Amino acid sequence: MNNNNVITPEMLRSAKWLDAGDFRSFNHRSRMMQMGFGIDDWDGSPIIGILNTWSDINPCHHHFKDRVEDVKRGVLQSGGLPLEIPCMSLFESINKPSPLLYRNLLAMEVEELLRSYPIDGAILMGGCDKTTPGLMLGAISVQIPAIFIPAGPMLRGNYRGETLGSGSDAFKSWDEYRVGNICDRELEGICGGLARSAGTCMTMGTASTMTSIVDAMGMCIPGASSIPAVDTNHNRMCSKAGKRIVEMVWEDLTPGKILTKKSFVNGIVTAMALGGSTNSIIHIIAMARRAECNISMDDFDRISRDIPVIANIRPSGDLYLMEDFYYAGGIHGMMNRLRSFLHLDEMTVVGETIGNVIQNAEVYNNDIIRKLDDQYIKKGLLPY
Ligand code: FES
Repeated sequence: MNNNNVITPEMLRSAKWLDAGDFRSFNHRSRMMQMGFGIDDWDGSPIIGILNTWSDINPCHHHFKDRVEDVKRGVLQSGGLPLEIPCMSLFESINKPSPLLYRNLLAMEVEELLRSYPIDGAILMGGCDKTTPGLMLGAISVQIPAIFIPAGPMLRGNYRGETLGSGSDAFKSWDEYRVGNICDRELEGICGGLARSAGTCMTMGTASTMTSIVDAMGMCIPGASSIPAVDTNHNRMCSKAGKRIVEMVWEDLTPGKILTKKSFVNGIVTAMALGGSTNSIIHIIAMARRAECNISMDDFDRISRDIPVIANIRPSGDLYLMEDFYYAGGIHGMMNRLRSFLHLDEMTVVGETIGNVIQNAEVYNNDIIRKLDDQYIKKGLLPY
């Protein structure tokens, strides 16, 4: 037990199900044992619900099927009991008529899963556009310790040595095909090269904008949102999240202690500097309201007048993609350049302030992450 601990084993939420000394508790223990667990697997150990949006129909989260094992390893190493709980997987590109219709359904599912089962802490595995706010909204409502694990961007697209970006190059290639500039065989090659690994779209579209915002607000293992999905740093980030969530349960570090008006402002500042997706506006406001923080369109307007776009990432940027952003220093390199605009005393899931977390972050490519006196776009516009 470290000095930050405020929860004792008897106070665990799961103990109300499993250690209440009544018939129902006896029955609950019996059902846990039905899965092969022994009493010492959960007795005095936080139960960590891993809400996994893996699905065979969602390529953005395809690696979560394996990555959840890294999370479980971390939970076990820290003395918790991991239980994987599948929840609905919203894949932006195929779901019709629009996954926006289901964001709140996911939020309700998450809220009710966490509320109705003996769960002491939650890992939220998402990233494809609506899954990030959906998972966050549900977890904010329940107010048990939670860490968001972003799926991470896919690798750069590639066809015949030329870099391809999600979205914009798909439209462009289709138009080239329609006017006869490329043939069927080339179109098929581009089709396979546009999205060539697991992970979310690798431009600064809604997925990377939202995961970056949640990271900037302190709800991820710091810097997680920039790590490419198939980089082994992503595995290590997942096991770190598994370890840390158990500590957070003992510390009772709930989302309400991390998500404040100031942390939402940090999220908006980050979105502006990234030149991120305008879709983030509705999701930020929804999350802020769920967290009882007063954020409105006026905040976006006010902040955008001060914050320049310093990340040169497509589609607002001219050349680079998320993989390049990661190699250039990622979100923390960028946030360190924005220190004067951020509330540095805001808490993160690792129990340190965001100011501490970013203080040593460096930038390795000044064309991808610009200096404040060499802005990519003078005022923070949200062009996509
Ligand atoms: Fe999943 Fe773009 S379709 S992030």
